[in-house]
Amino acid sequence: MTVLIKNVRRYGEGDPVDVLLGDGEIRAIGAELSADDAEVIDGTGRILLPGLVDLHTHLREPGREDTETIESGSAAAALGGYTAVFAMANTSPVADSVVVTDHVWRRGREVGLVDVYPVGAVTVGLAGKQLAEMGTMAAGEARVRMFSDDGYCVHDPLIMRRALEYANSLGVLIAQHAEEPRLTQGAVAHEGPTASRLGLAGWPRAAEESIVARDALLARDAGARVHICHASTAGTVELLKWAKGQGISITAEVTPHHLLLDDSRLETYDAVNKVNPPLREASDAAALRQALAEGIVDCVATDHAPHAEQDKCCEFAAARPGMLGLETALSIIVQTMVRPGLLDWRGVARVMSENPARIAGLDDQGRPLEVGEPANLVLIDPEATWTVRAQELASISENTPYEAMTLPARVTATFLRGTVTARDGRTAGRVGR
Ligand code: NCD
Ligand code: ZN
Repeated sequence: MTVLIKNVRRYGEGDPVDVLLGDGEIRAIGAELSADDAEVIDGTGRILLPGLVDLHTHLREPGREDTETIESGSAAAALGGYTAVFAMANTSPVADSVVVTDHVWRRGREVGLVDVYPVGAVTVGLAGKQLAEMGTMAAGEARVRMFSDDGYCVHDPLIMRRALEYANSLGVLIAQHAEEPRLTQGAVAHEGPTASRLGLAGWPRAAEESIVARDALLARDAGARVHICHASTAGTVELLKWAKGQGISITAEVTPHHLLLDDSRLETYDAVNKVNPPLREASDAAALRQALAEGIVDCVATDHAPHAEQDKCCEFAAARPGMLGLETALSIIVQTMVRPGLLDWRGVARVMSENPARIAGLDDQGRPLEVGEPANLVLIDPEATWTVRAQELASISENTPYEAMTLPARVTATFLRGTVTARDGRTAGRVGR
């Protein structure tokens, strides 16, 4: 299949060009290209970027296929402009063995809308006691390269130290959900004036920051890399700045919701706003936006966390934490970072594609838009606006905090190895809406 994108601006820069895709690659770039058998897509007014890469997605398969499947989550990813996603290990059964990680990998391939990379668990059953067989998962068909107990923190410092040493010898990455559990027992909201007034049990910033500081030191001593999931506080930003200044191999992601939303959303007690780590204060969100612009926080990750209605539409304390993110991430980044002038489109490519691909060690994603490079791409209409309707999203679940919000920018088309996976709000083939 060949595709010819006419009249498009790469990274939103320079003069428009034509871009020809074929054999999974960018075949030619130039003015007035033509190809007899090509599907032609008008790129006028559109921006071409490398396909987006998400280091933090929950696909719920196996185990909670009533809330999301690899198929529905892949559709959401393609519609959101993603060409690779990392599926977290907190499934049922847990992805702590090569049987599960290779199953997720194969199912992702079968669906074929996005490259699904399984994340392996660090400890057996995410229980934090015994290291999982990371080596076997890394050697499997999926070649697992990222490990995380996400949903839980690897809180025992000795287990974390061993995990970092083991990961280092395997050349894989540990991603930490930074939450000291002794400080968050019963916690449901950010500890601060809002939670006090509303009578919600607080999740202090220090629960995250103490683990970030500790893990930076453990990574330093092990000579290992560590990645911090969903950074949520201004203090975490300061710690990352310090650790990077020391030459420690630490990277971090921030979610779109921690960039845009804050704990004032909790006034309604609507559990759609309940998430881990919790929505913080406006000053934290501002510090995270600045840190992402400056590169102290390396990348955006969605933490797409689908949940069933009965697990969300209930009393706040009983509700599960997490919110949808794949189909809205790009628009939220445009709203919080591009419109205020904190990032240009090249910056968007950096934090949503190039940096996550580099952190995860993918050599076919986040590549330059040049001839001979893999055609994993996203075409964006920067001027479009759209109104979020949970029912219209491809996810099986509907727990979006952005319901009825009008957001800027829309994905026009997504290309995986030169094949269209999503176009004008529809996925290719029989999958999705
Ligand atoms: C995630 C989930 O639902 O699996 N929930 C969340 O609030 N973020 C787990 C996680 O990412 O910690
Ligand atoms: Zn987490």
